[in-house]
Amino acid sequence: MTCGWLQDQVVLITGGGSGLGLAIVERFMQEGARLAVLERSFEKCESLVRRFGDAVVAVQGNVILPEDNARAVDATIARFGRLDCFIGNAAIWDHGASLMDTDAASLAAGFDELFAVNVKGYLLGAKAAATELVKSEGSMIFTMSNSSFYPGGGGPLYTSSKHATAGLVRQLAYELAPKVRVNGIGPCGMNTDLRGPQALGQAGRRIMDSRSPEAIKTILPLQFFPSPEDFVGPFVLLASRQNNRALSGVMIQADAGLGIRGIRHVAGGLSL
Ligand SMILES: NC(=O)c1ccc[n+]([C@@H]2O[C@H](COP(=O)([O-])OP(=O)(O)OC[C@H]3O[C@@H](n4cnc5c(N)ncnc54)[C@H](O)[C@@H]3O)[C@@H](O)[C@H]2O)c1
Repeated sequence: MTCGWLQDQVVLITGGGSGLGLAIVERFMQEGARLAVLERSFEKCESLVRRFGDAVVAVQGNVILPEDNARAVDATIARFGRLDCFIGNAAIWDHGASLMDTDAASLAAGFDELFAVNVKGYLLGAKAAATELVKSEGSMIFTMSNSSFYPGGGGPLYTSSKHATAGLVRQLAYELAPKVRVNGIGPCGMNTDLRGPQALGQAGRRIMDSRSPEAIKTILPLQFFPSPEDFVGPFVLLASRQNNRALSGVMIQADAGLGIRGIRHVAGGLSL
């Protein structure tokens, strides 16, 4: 019998009800892991339970609340007895709301709502999981974005929130060594249920309402429109004990080559 890369590992992920998080749940189970999910949507929690039964612990809650993060860790330990990996993944986007086109009151309220989910949510998840991860000498992984490295993948709210996750990865990797490995993965555009802040009137708007598959394909040097499943391999690698002993503080740019896009080509030659 062959063992998966995550055989018997216990993993807690936030926002595992759809999109990238759900793809991670599916693949991690194939690799032998046992999963717990902290997810805001009741419907998505119900769907996880319908689909996976007792194999997945679905905790309905909000990542911006310390008590909900603590409840998710407690439920994981109660069911599986340990925690090997925490994945901070739940986030919201800003549909590219720009500085000039967004009024100051909306920027202020949008900042509070978006940073609460994208940055405070990761911090509080890490805080809730840290003691168990020190015990198991496990790992943390944070879902970043191309917006953790480059402008233009969102507006100033999303881009600065995703840049902040780079600081979190570095600081936590520093603080939690030698017991816990802490890493990040920055995917690029894909078709998911990613929404925006209520404060910007975007709670019902999905990412692909503002982006087309063709546009995403065109801007990526590797020239394909990714699906969430295209990004899960690096998560498996970073979570795996036997395949990742040495990586900590590492941020994998899983963005189909955006970093080598280089100087923009214009008709007739290079623009310099
Ligand atoms: N979709 C993209 O194009 C894209 C690109 C780069 C990075 N990402 C990142 O991928 C990650 C996953 O997003 P996705 O695209 O799969 O979107 P998604 O909306 O499909 O998944 C995010 C999940 O998080 C949940 N969630 C949102 N706010 C929450 C909260 N406060 N508490 C608990 N759960 C909450 C949502 O209900 C949803 O199920 C995010 O970190 C996002 O920034 C997405």
